Amino acid sequence: MSTQAPVKRYTAPQIQARKGDTPIVSLTAYTAPMAAMVDKHAEVILVGDSLGMVVHGLPSTIGVTLEMMILHGQAVMRGSERAMVVIDMPFGSYEESPGQAFRNAARIMAETGAGAVKLEGGARMAETIRFLTERGIPVMGHVGLTPQATNTMGGFKTQGRDESDWPAHIADAQAVADAGAFSIVVEGVMEALAERITEAVPVPTIGIGASNRCDGQILVLDDMLGLSGRVPRFVRKFGDLGPRTDAAIAAYAEAVRDRSFPGDGQVYR
Ligand code: KIV
Repeated sequence: MSTQAPVKRYTAPQIQARKGDTPIVSLTAYTAPMAAMVDKHAEVILVGDSLGMVVHGLPSTIGVTLEMMILHGQAVMRGSERAMVVIDMPFGSYEESPGQAFRNAARIMAETGAGAVKLEGGARMAETIRFLTERGIPVMGHVGLTPQATNTMGGFKTQGRDESDWPAHIADAQAVADAGAFSIVVEGVMEALAERITEAVPVPTIGIGASNRCDGQILVLDDMLGLSGRVPRFVRKFGDLGPRTDAAIAAYAEAVRDRSFPGDGQVYR
């Protein structure tokens, strides 16, 4: 019989209770090995639909499918044991009706074992968020710049430059919180608006390109590791793995070509 207590993951109520407390550390991950590394430091791992661009080379998140999210969600769950894993609902999998959203969110939860789903949109998604949360599916909201709506928003633009737009953004976040979301990603908004949204909702806000006024932060892992090509201006690169990976591959190629690899003993036995 095992005497070791199982490691418990962070839950939606625990994340929700962090409002106004120590900032919540969140990062994306899409694979088991990266999830294992992030798991040591973050409370929330997001399997973001940014995987469409980061992993699959798509031009945007629009082509990401439910199957892709489930496959990467399973990998991230296998690689982590402590962080809460949140999985993005991809474009087209939840907007039609609360029933459609529930069917697909239930599949994500059942087939991955993740702790929550995330979906984009403010007041217009409130009915759906309520439908999911009342039926046992924790939901993380996502307001401000919502990349799945890039075609109607006209690109990736900072939201709230014009103060007259603020009430609508604040009302969006309030509607999402009132509907039962346990936390809300606030993306690409002016600092003063991020502050107002954070004050206006009783659940933690998790900022990306939205200043340190939020209750936590999230970044795309590959962006902050320096593995992505072009990254948004707000991203701070905490590593330079892109150039270092390139140098390692170049060194390998050179070693193969000059026959210095494999050397003595570098064979399967
Ligand atoms: O898809 C994603 O990675 C996201 C984060 C950037 C918030 O939604």
